[in-house]
Amino acid sequence: MQRPMNTSSRADASLRPFGPNLWFHDAWVRFLGMPLKTRMTVVRLSDQPDAPLWLHSPIGDAPALRSRLDALGTVRHLVAPNAIHHLGLRDFANEFPDATIWATKNVEARSRIRAHASLEGPPERDTTPARWGADLELCVLGGNLLLEEALVLHRPSRTLIVTDFVEKIDESCTSPRAARLFGWFGLTTGEPAPAPEHRVFAVDPAPLRAAKERVLAWDFDRMIIAHGPNVEQHAKDELARCFDAAIRAASGRGERRGPVSVALRRLCLRLAPG
Ligand SMILES: [Fe+2]
Repeated sequence: MQRPMNTSSRADASLRPFGPNLWFHDAWVRFLGMPLKTRMTVVRLSDQPDAPLWLHSPIGDAPALRSRLDALGTVRHLVAPNAIHHLGLRDFANEFPDATIWATKNVEARSRIRAHASLEGPPERDTTPARWGADLELCVLGGNLLLEEALVLHRPSRTLIVTDFVEKIDESCTSPRAARLFGWFGLTTGEPAPAPEHRVFAVDPAPLRAAKERVLAWDFDRMIIAHGPNVEQHAKDELARCFDAAIRAASGRGERRGPVSVALRRLCLRLAPG
């Protein structure tokens, strides 16, 4: 569903700081034929002996980014946080072959890449890998047929790292025409909403309710998201709204029975593995 865009004029190798030992990088892909800007997060694990780098949703020109990343530290972890965000995984795994690949549900099947470790299912769902150190805390969202998403707290910057569970699609991350099309899928311009796959395939509200209670108890106020402007303050308010939307959908009270959502579900199931 996502493909890299051959848009050299848009390509860059910039890493923008978002807090202590925290950066992000934006790159363009195609999603269902539409241009979409997506985001990688880079964390330097400050409590590790060699301060390794942890890359969340790796994307972009890996060889071009190599020197910038090398200047920050050694890439030790590549995290595919949900089954849609594996597009750059192969390139980064080739560029950093010693890095551990962490995969959530369905990532291996969809990407055809063998991961070194799984982030899906209990007890991992509630357990942060020891190798990630004390800077990070993990919660994997369950209750979805297609994907599970890894939400990660970066404690030193009080920032939550999210992929598609909170999207703020606007013209900063897609074309004006595509922004209108995304609106058909409930992604009103600039308003926080879970991606369609987090509503269409949500079937069990219980794990979402548990995750909402747990994550909202964490200490954060900012949020890095994959699509749309990052959230600089009051991130919990926006996250809570997205939890409520996903829980409504999982309870059968959301918009997933609408004709567009039904069509999207059929399309996604056709594209999904197995
Ligand atoms: Fe996404």
